[in-house]
Amino acid sequence: MKPKVTTPLPGPKARELMERGQAVLSPSYIRPYPFVPARGQGVFLEDVDGNLFLDFMAGIAVNTTGYAHPKVLEAVRAQAERFAHVCFSDFTHEPTLSLAERLVARLGGGYRVFFGNSGTEGIEAAIKLVRHHTGRPYLLAFTGAFHGRSLGALSLTASKSAYRKGFSPLLPGVVHVPFPNPFRPPLGASPETVGEAVLEYLEHLFRTVLPPEEVAAFFLEPIQGEGGYVVPPAGFLSKLKALLERYGILLVADEVQSGAGRTGRFLALEHEGIQADVYVLAKGLASGYPISALLFREELGSWRPGAHGTTFGGQAVAAAAAHATLDLLEGGLMEHAARVGTYLLEELKALQKRFPFLGDVRGRGLMIGLDFGTPEEERPHLRDQVVERAFQKGLLLLQAGPSAVRIAPPLILSKEEAAMGLEILEEVFREL
Ligand SMILES: Cc1ncc(COP(=O)(O)O)c(C=O)c1O
Repeated sequence: MKPKVTTPLPGPKARELMERGQAVLSPSYIRPYPFVPARGQGVFLEDVDGNLFLDFMAGIAVNTTGYAHPKVLEAVRAQAERFAHVCFSDFTHEPTLSLAERLVARLGGGYRVFFGNSGTEGIEAAIKLVRHHTGRPYLLAFTGAFHGRSLGALSLTASKSAYRKGFSPLLPGVVHVPFPNPFRPPLGASPETVGEAVLEYLEHLFRTVLPPEEVAAFFLEPIQGEGGYVVPPAGFLSKLKALLERYGILLVADEVQSGAGRTGRFLALEHEGIQADVYVLAKGLASGYPISALLFREELGSWRPGAHGTTFGGQAVAAAAAHATLDLLEGGLMEHAARVGTYLLEELKALQKRFPFLGDVRGRGLMIGLDFGTPEEERPHLRDQVVERAFQKGLLLLQAGPSAVRIAPPLILSKEEAAMGLEILEEVFREL
């Protein structure tokens, strides 16, 4: 397959659906460009007008195994024939129980699992868990972070003030710390010193305004997602973890976007060689079926029956899709994502040499950010032009952060398909 589009987009049917949407849908929906899907196969999506697109966004880093993977379809169909839903908060059932066992085994044991339906729900559960267990009121998070949109999760989110505007007061007791972004270092630091500068800032907070023994947990994304696909400096996270341990502060790794094989390892934290006290997984875990998993160290399980619950969380069909996804990830898909990701990253870095307006290329596995700004200037317009032009040529991209594009294709992307995407990107860059 190859991308094939009749321009200008949108076509007539897509235009009609977009117009109908304007009449009935909440104005809060974003529409970065007028794409209206009809069906998908592998890493390709066809729109309602019969145009064919190569998908480099995977429904925001969700569709791990692409569209209509036969193994996922088979698992979903088989479970749907047995039962879709018997509330897992009330009753144990096989597909979801064995999913919990499988996830705990992946972490080497010693964890417990609570299932939800979305990343946000996983984060909400994590907030309640760490407060309940520690009895401490404060939570730490990074600027640039995205942890979700419900009021608790939103209190941690700090990627755009627009997400928070009009919704205050949010949860009290959340303190934000500058993220050690090597491309745009905060605190007057350089890319080389930014990690140390942030750790010193945190110690300064602890000395002056924030008693560390009153902090329950630090929530962080091992690679910032919505914030722009930003990788912290090597070694930073393990130093941060050591610092937190000194004060009994729990580390919550929000692996909603970076987990489930996206970076070429099951968890992005594995690249740092450290373990978190709490993990939240969602997005890619079940190839598009809604499920999230909160995994917490056994010792943190002080909440009692009824302290937290959900009707749909851990729904059986989603759990079956997660099993099929894990089968594929464990059957070589993670290594494949690492290989294709390395190829893409190297090729994109080569493109950067030819097109200097591409300010930064960064990432791990198939979680790659292209930044069209400079350390001093954000340039969202240039970035938006890249996304729009790529769409018109049959490549689906998505924005992230102030000036970046995220490359987050299904992990089944082949090297040949990656090359197709690179070709389109190069064409777009030549036109700019
Ligand atoms: C790191 C991270 N955490 C949490 C969320 C929220 O997940 P959801 O949209 O499934 O509620 C997202 C969504 O983009 C995310 O990227």
